[in-house]
Amino acid sequence: MTRAIILSGGWGTRLRPLTCTIPKTLIPIVNKPVIERQMLLLKSAGVKEIVLAVSVMDDVIKRYFKEGENLGIKIHYTLEKHPKGTAGALKLAESYLKDDNFFMLNGDVVLNYDMEDMLKFHEKYKGIGTIAGKTVEDPSRFGVLIANNETHQLLEFLEKDEYSPPNGKIVPMPINAGVYLLEPEIFSFIEPNKKVSIEREVFPKVAKEKKLFYYPISGIWNDVGKPHDLIQANILLMNDLIKSLDGNVKNLVDYSADIHPSSEIHPPCTIGENVVIHGNCKIGPNVVIGDNVLIENNAELSNCLIYNEVYISNNVKIEKAIIADNCNIRENVIIKGNNENLVILASYVEVISNLELIAPKTISLSVCHHEVVRESMK
Ligand code: GTP
Repeated sequence: MTRAIILSGGWGTRLRPLTCTIPKTLIPIVNKPVIERQMLLLKSAGVKEIVLAVSVMDDVIKRYFKEGENLGIKIHYTLEKHPKGTAGALKLAESYLKDDNFFMLNGDVVLNYDMEDMLKFHEKYKGIGTIAGKTVEDPSRFGVLIANNETHQLLEFLEKDEYSPPNGKIVPMPINAGVYLLEPEIFSFIEPNKKVSIEREVFPKVAKEKKLFYYPISGIWNDVGKPHDLIQANILLMNDLIKSLDGNVKNLVDYSADIHPSSEIHPPCTIGENVVIHGNCKIGPNVVIGDNVLIENNAELSNCLIYNEVYISNNVKIEKAIIADNCNIRENVIIKGNNENLVILASYVEVISNLELIAPKTISLSVCHHEVVRESMK
């Protein structure tokens, strides 16, 4: 096994308006695109060639990764004019993947676990497919895996609208983590030239033939379907990265950061390259700041993600928000989300001075790319 395929062609509708300018799989998680992190993990498990199955904003993804020279992995691309579904995309890559088993990943999951161990498991059980599963407290948003605990055989693969919890009571269940190890025989289950879903149309058939197995993953896992997931995934990975470093390291701060001594950084917090933070700021906890960001005096930031090239002026407060690249926040602005409902500013948004952007209780507050906000929003 030296190859893998990463699905990277979906619309990412639930992450709009961020995904109007950034393909979902290039969204940064602790300052690196989701799929770049996946590629590095695959590389550490021995993968040398990766097929990126692209469609929506394919040009942006190709420009970023080119042929993989910066990562030391050979990248091939398959292109769907319109997304062909998760199995339709896989079928297009058949010529690259027909000779040996391979990993397949949804390009929107953040993970860190021993993939070589999953390969050993797959080779031991000899199925057509092994599906990585993660047990979560509330499985209702995900595809649920029902397996035989002794044989590890997957008995049922139920998509989110097909699973109802016993007696209507939510209980922790293993869910489809969007990571698979597959044998080339899988291609015979997929009709060519059609939009096909691997979860709905392929896995249930393979499970019926008793050739699908369940591998429980133990490391971190988070999908990035919705905006709040993005904040959660960043926090999870940040804590994981900090844990793997020297015990004294509390924050991930690039050496180039220029932080005024009167400003406080509360862990966990990540600060990218060439960031300047002026005086009396409180940054953190749970903050990720990208590259080339300027934050002026008295800023207070917590539970938020600030992408690259953002300017934050004096006396700005940001909490429970995602501020995409190249945004410009003027003086005395308050930006505040509400529990899981965030304030989301897409790329190149400008917010003029003295405004308040407060998310309502039931829905996130989003501003589309390149807009200038001239009035408070609540
Ligand atoms: P939503 O529109 O918000 O549901 O997001 P999505 O389009 O990313 O769909 P979903 O979360 O189901 O996708 C899971 C992963 O599969 C993501 O990495 C997508 O990029 C990818 N994906 C989904 N559909 C397709 C497709 O038709 N073709 C390709 N190449 N990738 C896909």
